[in-house]
Amino acid sequence: MIPASLPRFQQRLEQQLQQLMQQGLPDTAVLEPAMSYSLLLGGKRIRPYLVYVTGQLLGARLEDLDAPAMAIEALHTYSLIHDDLPAMDDDDLRRGKATCHKAFNEATAILAGDALQALAFEILSQHPYQQVSSACQIKMVHALARAAGAAGMCAGQAIDLAQTNQQIDLNRLEQMHRLKTGALIECSVKMAYYCSPCQDPQVLAALLTYASALGLAFQVQDDILDIESDTATLGKPQGSDLKANKSTYPALLGLEGARQKAGQLYQDALAALDTVPGDTSELRAFAHYIIARTF
Ligand code: IPE
Ligand code: IPE
Ligand code: MG
Ligand code: MG
Ligand code: MG
Repeated sequence: MIPASLPRFQQRLEQQLQQLMQQGLPDTAVLEPAMSYSLLLGGKRIRPYLVYVTGQLLGARLEDLDAPAMAIEALHTYSLIHDDLPAMDDDDLRRGKATCHKAFNEATAILAGDALQALAFEILSQHPYQQVSSACQIKMVHALARAAGAAGMCAGQAIDLAQTNQQIDLNRLEQMHRLKTGALIECSVKMAYYCSPCQDPQVLAALLTYASALGLAFQVQDDILDIESDTATLGKPQGSDLKANKSTYPALLGLEGARQKAGQLYQDALAALDTVPGDTSELRAFAHYIIARTF
């Protein structure tokens, strides 16, 4: 069920992040403990995995892919730290540990998140790339900025908060999911493409269709797990959405309807790969993992 290359790339990312936090951050003594606390040890690392596996398929070098892999994880971790804050989801547990604002304090968590976001762009822009042109480096920076900001993740989070305690329709729910979660997942694939020698817009389009279905399926499954998993398995509080009266797929469609939606998106993701040349078996296995995962 788990794609064969997942543990290998998770391990690679882990080593890269450890190295970065130990050696690569001069003059960050004040915030480093809170940043490292949230960034290291924990998390499925699925966005970096997508960077590595897509990039490898397209002929990119692993040493180059380390940059977008670390950057997307730093940015994602910042989004989690802020998502858990009292002003947002007000959660106490993340990745099996106390949330950043509980382990440190609220102001430190806000700043550690801010710093991780900045770090993502520092990594992307200062990496010693081997075969990525300056133009493609700028495209990666732009892709991440778009996906993170007011046209991407932040917009989705804003809609999420605005819709809490309200009835929304399926279109609005889908838009919210595509922004708050889908944008960073699509960005992972996009940055892998720009790291690679591939210059075929049709391949990029097909991969983005795959990532778009995958990203939505990922958040549908996240919503399902909020209901049917348990806190110990999830490493974050089960029932958080219900408690906060969030708009989710199970809330609108019921659990069975949400499962059907995830299954349909899985099929859409597979179909998108049909036109992508090369061995796409790991991307296919990954799509299955996304909808079958239990945490
Ligand atoms: C959780 O993301 C937040 C969502 C976008 C649903 P993950 O499920 O990838 O969290 P980690 O990184 O494994 O902790
Ligand atoms: C989080 O959505 C999305 C982002 C962090 C951008 P959720 O609020 O559902 O994530 P969890 O369930 O707390 O991980
Ligand atoms: Mg949230
Ligand atoms: Mg949350
Ligand atoms: Mg959730």
